[in-house]
Order: sequence, then C-alpha cells, then structure tokens
Amino acid sequence: MNCLEERILKDGVVKPGNVLKVDSFLNHQMDVALLDEMGKEFKRRFADKTITKILTIEASGIAIACSAARYFNNVPVVFAKKSKSINIDGDMYVATVESFTHKNVNQVVVSKRYLNEGDHVLIIDDFLANGCALQGLISIAESAGAKVEGIGIAVEKGFQIGGKVIRNMGYHLESLAIVDSMDDQTSTINLRDQD
Ligand code: G4P
Repeated sequence: MNCLEERILKDGVVKPGNVLKVDSFLNHQMDVALLDEMGKEFKRRFADKTITKILTIEASGIAIACSAARYFNNVPVVFAKKSKSINIDGDMYVATVESFTHKNVNQVVVSKRYLNEGDHVLIIDDFLANGCALQGLISIAESAGAKVEGIGIAVEKGFQIGGKVIRNMGYHLESLAIVDSMDDQTSTINLRDQD
C-alpha cells in the first residue's frame, strides 16, 4: 500500500453522493511530504518516459504536478486555466470541460506559448471521475502537436467511467489510489489492490 492509499484510509472522509473529501491533506490543507512521495511514485511509474512538460488543470492539480516535476528534471509545469470568457483570442488552445460534480461547464485554456509541437507531456490531476477534465487536457496537448506520454492521477474513482474510457483510448494511465467503492453511512472506503 502506498502512502496516499494509507492516508486516504486514515484521513479521507466519505460524503453523500460518492464524494471523497481529502481536504485535510491534498486539496485544501496540503501535506507537502506526502506530495513529495507522490511525485516520487509518479517518477517510478513513468521511469521509462522522457518528459519535457507536465500539464495539469487549476486548482488542485497544480501542487501535485509541481511535486512530480521535481522528479522529472524540474521540467516546466503548465496548468490549464478555467475561463468563463467567450472572448478567447487565437493565442490560446481551448477545450470545453463539463463537470458532473459541479454541474457546470468551463472553457479551459492554455497559452500557445507554453505548449509546443515536440513536447512530451505527462498529464497530472488530483481526481479522475468521469474523465471530462482529462479529455480536455488531452485535446489541448494534441492541438499543440505535443505527445501525451502518460497520465498520472492521485485518486481514481474506479466505479465511474473515466478510467476505463481513458485506458480504452490507449493512454498509459496510472492512478496512485483507485477507490472501488465507498459508503458514507459506514465511513467505508474500499481501495483496489494494486500491488
Ligand atoms: P471528471 O473531470 O473526471 O469528469 O470529474 P468531475 O467533472 O466529476 O469532477 C469535477 C471536479 O470535481 C474536479 O475538480 C474533480 O477533481 C472533483 N472531484 C470529483 N470527484 C471528487 C471527489 O470524490 N472528491 C473530491 N474532493 N473532488 C472530486 P474541480 O473542481 O474541477 O477542480 P479543483 O478546482 O477542485 O481542482
């Protein structure tokens, strides 16, 4: 069991609606030693890949991406910004991302200056649920002519479709923790055995 899995079992809180709160260590208050271990684990899982850039999305992906970057030769981290504006100029790569959790739609944008043809990209994010955010990031990377070498996720909700969809698309997806089921009544979290 890796350190994120252990921490989820210790401090993760199950909320109604299949929501796992990890606010105390990952996406509100952040445990930087844990983040560092997660970065190291991503490096171990993508050790054979040459990465020139890490791509993530604001807000909660940023810290994880920065920790990972330390283990990939300090490559630059680029984060997609969520934008409500429809006046996006031609200097941006744009994708539309629908959030089932928040019931809203965002345009996510990355400046063309920071993602280029020839980049070898590792995409990092905190949660994978339905995969909409990831599909947006993949589309942005591919619009830039960059190659998606891998996708690293902190917590995959294995009972939602995102993981299956992304793996079926042929991407190398690694999730540090996969939640197979959870129950807010009994405060139970079942993690997939990945050893
Ligand atoms: P998807 O991108 O995989 O399709 O997921 P979905 O639309 O369902 O989720 C949208 C947002 O909700 C994402 O954050 C995602 O990280 C978060 N999320 C999904 N399930 C959970 C969960 O069980 N627990 C927690 N804590 N978050 C979850 P976001 O709001 O778009 O970004 P951020 O600003 O929070 O990083």
